[in-house]
Amino acid sequence: MLATAPTPAYVYDLAAVRHNHTLLRAALPRRSGLYYSLKANPHPVLLAELRRCGTRAEVCSTGELRAAVDAGWSAQDILYTGPGKRDAELAEALDRGVLLFSVDTPYALDQLDRLAGERAVRVRALLRVNDDQPVPGQGLAMTGVPSQFGADTSWILDEPERFGGRAHTVVAGLHLYMGTNLTRADDLLTQFTRSVRTARRITEALAPYGMQLDILDLGGGFGAPFASAGSTVDLSALRPRLETLLDTEVSDWRTGATEVVFESGRYLVGTAGTLVTAVLDVKRSHGRDVVVLESGINHLGGMSGLRRLPPLQPHLVTAQATGRGGPLSALVTGPLCTPLDVWARSAELPGLRPGDRVAVPNTGAYGLYASLVAFLGHPLPAEIVHDSERPETQPHASRLTLTRTTD
Ligand SMILES: Cc1ncc(COP(=O)(O)O)c(C=O)c1O
Repeated sequence: MLATAPTPAYVYDLAAVRHNHTLLRAALPRRSGLYYSLKANPHPVLLAELRRCGTRAEVCSTGELRAAVDAGWSAQDILYTGPGKRDAELAEALDRGVLLFSVDTPYALDQLDRLAGERAVRVRALLRVNDDQPVPGQGLAMTGVPSQFGADTSWILDEPERFGGRAHTVVAGLHLYMGTNLTRADDLLTQFTRSVRTARRITEALAPYGMQLDILDLGGGFGAPFASAGSTVDLSALRPRLETLLDTEVSDWRTGATEVVFESGRYLVGTAGTLVTAVLDVKRSHGRDVVVLESGINHLGGMSGLRRLPPLQPHLVTAQATGRGGPLSALVTGPLCTPLDVWARSAELPGLRPGDRVAVPNTGAYGLYASLVAFLGHPLPAEIVHDSERPETQPHASRLTLTRTTD
């Protein structure tokens, strides 16, 4: 597939999605729910496969909501998250029957309550918590720092009366998402331990205001290789340790009275995708080999351009049996008219010529959908979904386009 796909193309393998799902389920407590976070990759064929695997859908925009509904998730299997929600998006979610929302502030609780009241429905809110300290580990901290996500633990404990239920809104649980891309079971366990302890303190503080811990969303942060070689990390050692932790800290999780749920994006789809792209030019400049590809930060790595992720170190692989010419230590760029369009400053590559194709593995998460796709107007890559365990099924090929409509 990598040798024959048109370039540029993202090639996704459904067998890898199923494999990752099996691995992640083996790492999680037996009685727990798992949400797929659509932000990692909302491709409709991947969504349909993840739904068949048994995940629920975590969405944080109207676009993701529609993608989840189109993929067949029913409204009761959708969790709507995210800071700063607009009335219109909440209204659409409510009108589509979504009844579970993560909220970040007392204002957001009031807003949800008002819109639920206008529709005479009763909704459930998970209060998102920004705990007081960041978690250790290599990932991207999303807690313990000033943030748009969640209410600080100290704020909730100081003013619990502001975080209680409303006329149409039951505060039915807590949502803790501490960081992303943790690859060590120890780091994951540390963050979950901190989360369940924080959840206990907050539950006690909010109990007088009507809160019950029906749902404990422990987030995730399950790491995966990104744009470099590697395979899905086996986290099965986590399950017994997590179950012991829950037995100690969340007494009724086994009965389901408190439902424990997790969220994951990159672990489920990261290793399922490869970007195949072509070499457009090769030259030397100021003593350095320079390889210009037909894909740059418009197709992959836009988030690192915005400093959200560490600089990309893509692992480039020739699709030919052997490279030609001597190895290169190259500046690898895309074709965009900006010096920021750089994937790597000194990537070790086999000899390459214009017309060769290269592959960037493990780009199934935060690849195309986290890139600067509108910048400079180059065509977007095709997306080809195949199933390496079912070679008889026809691959699905499509391409995103940007269109302008008048308001
Ligand atoms: C609330 C929440 N859930 C889930 C995710 C998905 O993270 P990942 O793709 O690392 O699993 C994120 C990522 O930022 C998040 O903020």
